Amino acid sequence: MTNLIIRGGTVVNHDHSHPADVLIDGETIVAIGTAIDAPTGAQTIDAGGCYVMPGGIDPHTHLEMPFMGTVTADDFEWGTKAALAGGTTMVVDFCLPDPGQSMLAAYQDWRRKSEKAASDYGFHMAVTSWSKQVFDEMEIVVKTYGINTFKHFMAYKGALMVNDDELYNSFARCAHLGAMPLVHAENGDVVARMQEALLGRGVTGPEGHAYSRPPEVEGEATNRAIMIADMTGAPLYVVHTSCREAHEAIARARAGGKRVYGEPLIQHLLLDAGEYQNKSWNHAAQRVMSPPFRDKSHQDSLWAGLQSGSLQVVATDHCAFTTDQKRLGVGDFRKIPNGTGGLEDRMPLLWTAGVTTGRLTKEEFVAVTSSNIARILNVYPRKGRIAVGSDADVVVWDPSASKTISAKKQMSRIDYNVFEGFSCTGGPAVTLSRGKIAWKDGELRAEKGDGKYVERPPFSPVHVANSTWKQQTAPQAVRRADVTP
Ligand code: URP
Ligand code: ZN
Ligand code: ZN
Ligand code: ZN
Repeated sequence: MTNLIIRGGTVVNHDHSHPADVLIDGETIVAIGTAIDAPTGAQTIDAGGCYVMPGGIDPHTHLEMPFMGTVTADDFEWGTKAALAGGTTMVVDFCLPDPGQSMLAAYQDWRRKSEKAASDYGFHMAVTSWSKQVFDEMEIVVKTYGINTFKHFMAYKGALMVNDDELYNSFARCAHLGAMPLVHAENGDVVARMQEALLGRGVTGPEGHAYSRPPEVEGEATNRAIMIADMTGAPLYVVHTSCREAHEAIARARAGGKRVYGEPLIQHLLLDAGEYQNKSWNHAAQRVMSPPFRDKSHQDSLWAGLQSGSLQVVATDHCAFTTDQKRLGVGDFRKIPNGTGGLEDRMPLLWTAGVTTGRLTKEEFVAVTSSNIARILNVYPRKGRIAVGSDADVVVWDPSASKTISAKKQMSRIDYNVFEGFSCTGGPAVTLSRGKIAWKDGELRAEKGDGKYVERPPFSPVHVANSTWKQQTAPQAVRRADVTP
């Protein structure tokens, strides 16, 4: 086991920053302070002028995922290499059983695919149908596989979508098991009808994708998911919150004491609906994802959510398809594989657009890229904090680093980047993954297979508090003297 000391930087956690050295023994942080004596032979990393932050956690990726008749182009090797190059040291991917397929089989399938991962990783499990088998397997997924989150698609009708009755069943099961339900919140029935109507009017291009999924469709589904979660006593995490309507639903729920979380994507914070008006079909189709990019006014709402704390996590939903794959949808926008990339770019872009502009403090940056999701996923402070005893997932962040994003230089295997030409100020000088140098001075050192699977226990503190409160306030039967029970 090697010792490593990071000298001369400022340690930044979500709640506090201070100048300190960080000593690492093997995979773990063992000391933080000034004037630490490093053991002989310890390797030194000079962090002068840099911030020493917990590695990023991206809780929303789709690596080597079969979807819409094809498979995402970035597998666990290249997806996690992209992550490390951008300062992200853990990803959480979605195990996706086909409707009717066993969750246990899907889990084995994802474990096999993820053996190639260069960074640490975990899984969410998707509930794509409802049956006694699903009910039973959810317990095994939580207790044996260490997965405490279940994803539900309220869109993708005829494929992954589940209805309200299925949501209720699954959310109630999550509440019982100490797990958190996640939702993709769009009204899939309405989307399907809008798609038909648009195609009937001759709108076949990528712009039709955006027209068929307006913010109202997302706002309604977000409100509905919040209501169902509340009725079942489960907390709720809303993935890819893209618009004001959905953000306001989450903010209102939180103001009412509900345990609801929202996750804007870096794409929705920075890219807008004008992309779908581009005269190049390829350009517009490369940006097709669900929910689609919104008008700029929605971006202001999402940024405000991060500032005020009504939105907690910035993710990528990294789901990368090549231009050739996107062209499956020429002539019918419903067939354009949905998804965009972003793993390598999330942290430098958020720093540039968030911290250098004064929208976010550096501590808030750490909160929304790492600590908040570590707590939501119940892996904090092992992940998400620079602390003695935590995994040495560390990014030495150089606020003066600069780069221009270009597909030619990216780790991702696709042939374009939706952020092509964006200039970033601030980036990772060094990324450590459990104490190993994974990325340094523009060079990738992590190798295929370096990543480990991270198990996540159920019953997070918020889950326990929420279920206690729900029991305390549950409606009670009225005892009556004139009726024998
Ligand atoms: O368009 C998207 N978001 N593709 C990935 C699957 C999903 O809905 O998250
Ligand atoms: Zn301190
Ligand atoms: Zn989704
Ligand atoms: Zn997704």
